[in-house]
Amino acid sequence: ARHCIDSGVTKLPSGLVIASLDNYSPASRIGVFVKAGCRYESPDNQGVTHLLRLAANLTTKGASAFRICRGVEAVGGSLGSVSVIYDTVMEYLINVTTAPEFRPWEVSDLTSRVKMDRALAAQSPQMGVIEGLHGAAYKNTLSNSLYCPDYMVGHVDADHMHNFIQNNFTSARMALVGLGVDHDVLKQVGEQFLNIRSGMGTAGTKAQYRGGEVRVQNGSSLVHSAVVSEGAAVGTDEVMAFSVLQHVLGVGPHIKRGSNSTSKLIQGVAKATADPFDASAFNVNYSDSGLFGVYTISQSAAAGDVIKAAIGQVKAVASGVSEADLTRAKTQLKAEYLMSLESSEGLLDAMGSQALTRGAYHSPEVIAQMIDSVSATDVANAANKFVSGKKSMASSGNLVKTPFVDEI
Ligand SMILES: *[C@@H]1O[C@H](CO)[C@@H](O)[C@H](O)[C@H]1NC(C)=O
Ligand SMILES: *[C@@H]1O[C@H](CO)[C@@H](O)[C@H](O)[C@H]1NC(C)=O
Ligand SMILES: *[C@@H]1O[C@H](CO)[C@@H](O)[C@H](O)[C@H]1NC(C)=O
Ligand SMILES: *[C@@H]1O[C@H](CO)[C@@H](O)[C@H](O)[C@H]1NC(C)=O
Ligand SMILES: *[C@@H]1O[C@H](CO)[C@@H](O)[C@H](O)[C@H]1NC(C)=O
Ligand SMILES: *[C@@H]1O[C@H](CO)[C@@H](O)[C@H](O)[C@H]1NC(C)=O
Repeated sequence: ARHCIDSGVTKLPSGLVIASLDNYSPASRIGVFVKAGCRYESPDNQGVTHLLRLAANLTTKGASAFRICRGVEAVGGSLGSVSVIYDTVMEYLINVTTAPEFRPWEVSDLTSRVKMDRALAAQSPQMGVIEGLHGAAYKNTLSNSLYCPDYMVGHVDADHMHNFIQNNFTSARMALVGLGVDHDVLKQVGEQFLNIRSGMGTAGTKAQYRGGEVRVQNGSSLVHSAVVSEGAAVGTDEVMAFSVLQHVLGVGPHIKRGSNSTSKLIQGVAKATADPFDASAFNVNYSDSGLFGVYTISQSAAAGDVIKAAIGQVKAVASGVSEADLTRAKTQLKAEYLMSLESSEGLLDAMGSQALTRGAYHSPEVIAQMIDSVSATDVANAANKFVSGKKSMASSGNLVKTPFVDEI
């Protein structure tokens, strides 16, 4: 209850959503969340959100973060007290959201950081698999990379950045969220600073799932592989069932043999190989789609056995889940959710994404009730949606023993 002492949500005529929560914490925090992630890029401005992320970090001393994911981007501000809201910190925050100045030479200076980010990402097999998976799974929008693609490095300019902000950072696609901030004060701030561009901009394109496969064959003796079907979109009833299913199967990483684990995936895969491995459920959800499946890491010779055993465990859940496993998974999910709200950043994120997707904020008690109301049948149905759905797969490593998507 201490998370939700006094909360308010208002939608201004421009469409801007204002959400505040007075949790009586000594430090106030505000954040602006915008539905303008990399999914809104087009072929001629691809990479622009990567550049915006870097530029924001260079120009906003007051704003603590500018994180861009496929669905939403967040500009977070950390404030010492409410009274400084109108002061420079707020101004920096608003500037980066609405009227940033990108000087051409500053933008071209970002090229080396773009290259560095790309090089770092290329070293991470997880990042490679997750990016590849989205590219293979979707025809459009969510197939875009979080990173500026090779052919655009050095070609995204200040005009691209201005145009993108002009067309995508509109009031109706923003939420202004405050913790420990008076709701009326926050409303005034929203009215004064964020009512600049009203309307939705161009209607966003709906994500189109297609199913596909990407394989990065290289010398690595550790094979990373993800196999998914289309999951659930945020705000649907199904999304909770998938989250409970994820916890029945096991949320990684485990990085040990763990044959004693409560994770169904670890239990099942441990029977199929004597080598070290990791297996966890993969679950992401966006405003209009989601991906659900299994993520495995294994020795290259064991990859086929590990992947098939992991999928076998989802099939087993599709034909029924025990009351004990269901209860354990729900308890874990609720504890995890509450833990994510312990930090003010986590709480701000939860409020921001709910304000944007639902125009409301649900207290932890309401979320807990939603989790509790998921039945064994709901979980089995979600598992069955994975089993019978059209698959997407991404793998990297020495893939001689890794099956193709049509072989699983
Ligand atoms: C912002 O810059 C700092 C160093 O100046 C860096 O540690 C941090 O990762 C950067 N954040 C983003 C989102 O690029
Ligand atoms: C914000 O933008 C305005 C207008 O572009 C500018 O005058 C002001 O100095 C900027 N503030 C900060 C803190 O950068
Ligand atoms: C293999 O490919 C993955 C994904 O692109 C990459 O992260 C990994 O570093 C590569 N391994 C080797 C040995 O090249
Ligand atoms: C986002 O901005 C780009 C570049 O200006 C534009 O082409 C695109 O239509 C915008 N997207 C939406 C959904 O408004
Ligand atoms: C597995 O868990 C059970 C019960 O929690 C415990 O008694 C047993 O010692 C554990 N076995 C291993 C190998 O850790
Ligand atoms: C949707 O996915 C995000 C991470 O991608 C996760 O934090 C969130 O809890 C998920 N929402 C639900 C309702 O499962």
